[in-house]
Amino acid sequence: MSQITAFGTYVPEKIINNHYFENLIDTNDEWILSRTGIRTRRFAKDGEYTSDLSYKAVQDLVSKSGKEVKDVDFIIICTTSPDQPMPNSASRLQYKLGVENAGCNDIYAACAGFVYGLQMAHGFVNSGIYQKVLVVGAETLSKIIDMDDRTSCILFGDGAGAALIEPGEDEHFLAFNSGTNGDLGHDLYLSHKKNSINGVGINPNGRIIQNGRSVFKWAVGNIPNKIRDLVEKAGLTLDDIDHIVPHSANLRIIEAIAKSLDYPMEKVPESVTEFGNTSSASIPLAIAKSMQTGGIKKGDTVLMIGFGGGLTFAGTIVKWNI
Ligand code: UT7
Repeated sequence: MSQITAFGTYVPEKIINNHYFENLIDTNDEWILSRTGIRTRRFAKDGEYTSDLSYKAVQDLVSKSGKEVKDVDFIIICTTSPDQPMPNSASRLQYKLGVENAGCNDIYAACAGFVYGLQMAHGFVNSGIYQKVLVVGAETLSKIIDMDDRTSCILFGDGAGAALIEPGEDEHFLAFNSGTNGDLGHDLYLSHKKNSINGVGINPNGRIIQNGRSVFKWAVGNIPNKIRDLVEKAGLTLDDIDHIVPHSANLRIIEAIAKSLDYPMEKVPESVTEFGNTSSASIPLAIAKSMQTGGIKKGDTVLMIGFGGGLTFAGTIVKWNI
C-alpha cells in the first residue's frame, strides 16, 4: 500500500506581472485578468532549468519533512519543458541530489503529468518494484513560450512541486482514472520538426502553440464527468471530497468545472492567479498554497485532476497525510 509521505514546492524569484506584456504585444492587464484570472507568474533566470527548480522543490520537501532522499530508488520528473531531450531531467536531478542508485525517467504528459506521475509511483510501490519514489512536476515554460503569440504567451509560468511516495500501512490512493483524445492533438503542441498531427500541418518553431478555444471547450465539456467518474470509482460522493484540485489552466475553466459539479469554489484550490499556468507544476503549487492558508490539511480527501496537451487527462483521489 502506498502513501504520499512528504511534499515540497519551489517557484523562481522573478515575478512577472501582466503589464510586462504590454510593451511586447497588443494586450493589457484588464484582458489578461478577465479572460484568465492571472495576475502574476514567475520566470526562471537565464541558466536556470527544470532540474534546478526540481532540486529546490525537493530541498523544500526535505526541510519540511526531515525525510532522507539519498536512498530514493526511482525519480520521475513530469514536464513539458525538460532541460533538454537527453539526458532526461530526472537524471540531472539524481546527480544534483547525490542519489546513489535510482532509475530515472521523465513523463511527457503536459498538464496531466503530475497526476500520471503519482499513478505510476503508486504502481511501482504497490507492486514492490520500488520502495521510495520521487515524483516532481516541474516546468520552465518561459523558455518555450512564443512571445509573438498574444493568445498564449500571457498564460504560462515556471515552478515545481515534489512528492515522495512510499509504502505504508494503509492505502492512501483511493481511485485513479485517465483518458486521451488524440484526435485533438493538433490543438496544443510543441514541435521542433516539420511534421503534421492528424493531417494538420504544424508550426515547428519549438514553442507552445495552442488553440485556446478548443482546449477550453474540451476541458469544460469533459472534466466534470471525469471527476464524477473518479468519485464513483472510489465509492464516494462529491460531499466526501474535501478539495478538488484541477489543473490551474485558467480561472474561468476552474469556475466552470466547479459550477457544473455544483461544488463550492472555496474548496477548489488554484495556483493560476499567482503563478499562471505552470502545467505539470500547477496542481502541487495549488496544494501548497492551500496548505499554507489553512485549506488542505492532514486527513482530508483530495481529488486531483490534470488535463492538457494530448489532449489527455489523469485523475486521482488521495487521503492527504501531511
Ligand atoms: O494548460 C493546458 C491546457 N490549456 C488550457 O486549458 C487553455 C484553455 N484556453 C484558454 O484559457 C483561453 O481560451 C485563452 C485564455 C487562451 C483565450 O481566452 P478566450 O476567452 O478563449 O479568448 P479567444 O481566443 O476567444 O479570443 C477572444 C479575443 C480575440 O479577438 P477577436 O477575434 O474576438 O477580435 C483574440 O484575438 O481576444 C483576442 N485576444 C487578446 N486580446 C488581448 C487573444 N489574446 C489576447 C491578448 N490580449 N493577450
